[in-house]
Parts: sequence; structure tokens; C-alpha cells
Amino acid sequence: MLKRKLRRCKLNCVSFFCFIALAAVTLTVIKNHDRTRFSGSRSLELVEVNPDIYVNCTKILKGDIEEIQNAKLKLLTVDYKKRHHRLTENDFINMTRDCNSFTRDRKYILEPLSQEENAFPIAYSIVVHHKIDMLERLLRSIYMPQNYYCIHVDKKSPESFLSAVKAIASCFRNVILASQTENVVYASWSRVQADVNCMKELYHANAQWKYLMNLCGMDFPIKTNREIIQSLKALKGKNSLETEKMPPHKEVRWRKHHEISGTGVRRTDIDKKPPPFGVPVFSGSAYFVFSRAFVDHVLNNDKIKAFLEWSQDTYSPDEFVWATLHRFPDMPGSVPANGKFDVSDMNSIARFVKWQYLEGDVTKGAPYPPCSGTHVRSVCVFGAGDLQFMLKMHHLFANKFDVDVDSTAIQCLEEHLRHKALFPNRLT
Ligand SMILES: *[C@@H]1O[C@H](CO)[C@@H](O)[C@H](O)[C@H]1NC(C)=O
Ligand SMILES: *[C@@H]1O[C@H](CO)[C@@H](O)[C@H](O)[C@H]1NC(C)=O
Repeated sequence: MLKRKLRRCKLNCVSFFCFIALAAVTLTVIKNHDRTRFSGSRSLELVEVNPDIYVNCTKILKGDIEEIQNAKLKLLTVDYKKRHHRLTENDFINMTRDCNSFTRDRKYILEPLSQEENAFPIAYSIVVHHKIDMLERLLRSIYMPQNYYCIHVDKKSPESFLSAVKAIASCFRNVILASQTENVVYASWSRVQADVNCMKELYHANAQWKYLMNLCGMDFPIKTNREIIQSLKALKGKNSLETEKMPPHKEVRWRKHHEISGTGVRRTDIDKKPPPFGVPVFSGSAYFVFSRAFVDHVLNNDKIKAFLEWSQDTYSPDEFVWATLHRFPDMPGSVPANGKFDVSDMNSIARFVKWQYLEGDVTKGAPYPPCSGTHVRSVCVFGAGDLQFMLKMHHLFANKFDVDVDSTAIQCLEEHLRHKALFPNRLT
């Protein structure tokens, strides 16, 4: 404990001096109108020198069918599976014993890339339960020293996973673990509570961050930190999330009392009271982009607390609680309950998701082309062939990615975003 504190203190001092150095560099950079001169940026590029399989990401991002097929075939070969080395929990515990070499070897960006970004910190709530290598790649892709990160590790995750997450967090003063943790049961209230726990941590950890976004282990950014900030600024204090009229077949989710049974949520015959204050219930998703003022109300407003309490024994409250709060008249950054203000997942900037039943020919009216990976519960787990279309979308993050389905999709996205972050003026 003491050791970690010392290390943190050391890191704080290091970051302070880095900050001073950076301020000087930033000023020079801005003066020269040449951001590519940023010190050391070459060494921060994320081009895999020794990838398990070689793919030309330039071609993949252009939608080159041959290269995408190639990548798919290579992923299927036994040879690849044999060679493929995934970083394990122990690897991370080992690597983070020396934080300086960890952040250097894993190419973390330890200085804000611009004054604009430094002045606009973002907070992230990350809810995970396994796949430490995915979590670390996600963290690395969104990590900036001015942002704040809270990781909620599932109560039922193995001790080794928790230790590895703690080890990684110990290398950063702005990455914290949720101290109150939940056993997250699919479609239950615990999913919402996990985010609320991180919300509280982040709210108290720092008073400067402007927006809060939530992530899970299968999300990945499709925009750079700089682009994310520009999108958030354009919201002008509004939140952004899916919120639409509740389809009648989903009403049973909150009209009946539900109970946790085993690893799922079971509906009972018991009727629930209608929602408090007669608020209309809206339908949405678990993903949100909330202003700090909104988060303040979620945590401190009694009316909101009553609504959240009422939601606890429902089915999949994550898919209506946030959507409904975003239509409360007195919530900061909300939109009116009138149907004209409905926001679909494609119009919100929170998350790009491909639902199997909506995939199709875009020229014939489908919202997005077919999935190039596989499907899990009707949601596309992206393949390399999904990147080209996805990167044209305005969403900040996309879901779902999985190294076990297509690691090249993640590899090419990492490479692309890092390059764009370091050389924003260069066309790729
Ligand atoms: C990848 O493809 C691009 C575009 O076709 C090409 O210009 C580049 O040379 C290729 N890179 C490598 C390393 O083969
Ligand atoms: C970490 O692992 C490497 C490679 O196996 C090993 O050489 C090194 O001694 C380990 N470091 C620590 C601190 O255990």
C-alpha cells in the first residue's frame, strides 16, 4: 500500500514535470502550426512490427475485399492459433512491476496531445469481467493523462483478474477501481448499479471532467480523443443517447415484478406499481454520454433516486432507465418527452451497434451492411470488413469487438486511431 502510494507520488511528480515540459512543447507546436513536430510521436505509433498475422491495415480500412478475405483466412489457420500469444493476467502483473517500462513498452500517451484536449477532461466508467488483454488495449486506446477512468470489476471475476486490473491501475494516478462492486447478472439491475458505482467514484475523484461515458469490455473507440472532444463540445451541454417510444411488447419488463434466479432474471406474476411521478418510460440502450451536470442530478436528486429505486426489480433496466431520465424535464441536458425528440441509436453518438435483423443492402434502405464477423445475441461482433463503413459514422465508440473473433479488426483500429491522434493533419 505504502509502496503504491510512493509510486503514485513519484508518478505525480513525474507527471508534473512532464506537464511543464509539455506546456512548453505545446506552445512551440501551436506557434509553428505544425503538430507533427510533437516530441517523440514516432515512437508512440502502434504499428505491430511482429503481428501474429500480417495484414495491410491501409487496405483493410479502404474496404479492400481481397485483403479482408486474406485476413479472415489467416485467422482460421491452425498455425495462427498455435502462434498466437495472448498477454495474460500474470504478464500484466509482471509488466506493471515497473510502471515506467510498462507505459513505455505498451506505448501509452503520457502527455496531453493539445491544449484543447488538456482543457477538456472526460470521465469513463468501464464495466468488465474478463479478458484482461482486451481491457488493456481498450484502456490504452482511450488513455490520456487528463482523463479519468473508473473500472468496475465484476464481483464474480477470478481473483487473478482483479489483481491484474489493480496492477494496471497502480501505474496511473487517474485510473481507479470501483470500491463497491456488484455481481453483474445479465439483464438485471446490477448492470446499472455497476455504472452508478463508478459514477460516484468519478464524481468525487475530480470536479473538472465535462462528460461521462460508459464502456464495457467489448467496446472500442472509433474516434480519437481530440475528435471525441469536438463532438462533445458540439453537444453544448446536452447528453447523447438512444431514447425512443417504448415498444408495447417491452412494457412487461417494468409492469411486472422480476427476480434474480440463478444467472438470469425471472418474471413473476406480481404487478408493479406504475413509475413514480407518472413519468413516461422510454426505450434505449445501456450506453450513454452524460454531461457532468446530469451526473450530479443522478447522484443527488431525490426524485431521480425514487425512480431508480422503482426500477430495481425490472427486466433490463439499463435499457430504459437512462433513456427515461434523459426525457425528465428538469434533468440537465435532457430533451422533452414529446415524440418529436426521440433519438435512435444511429442518431445518438454514444454507440455504433449492428443488429442482425437490420443489416442489409444500404443502397436499398438498410441502415448498415451485413456483419463481417459473427453474431452474439443478434449483435454483430465486428470483423475487419466492418471497419470501413463504421469509421464513416459519427459515433464515438462501437460495440462489439472480440480478440477471439477477429483480432485484426482491433489491430487495424488501434493503428489507425493512434496515427490520426499523433498526426491529425495528415491524410491516411
Ligand atoms: C499497404 O497497402 C497500401 C495501399 O494499397 C500500399 O500503398 C502499401 O505499400 C501497403 N503496405 C505494405 C507494407 O505493403
Ligand atoms: C517478467 O517476465 C520476464 C519474462 O518471462 C522475466 O524475464 C522477468 O524476470 C519477469 N519480471 C519480474 C519482475 O518478475
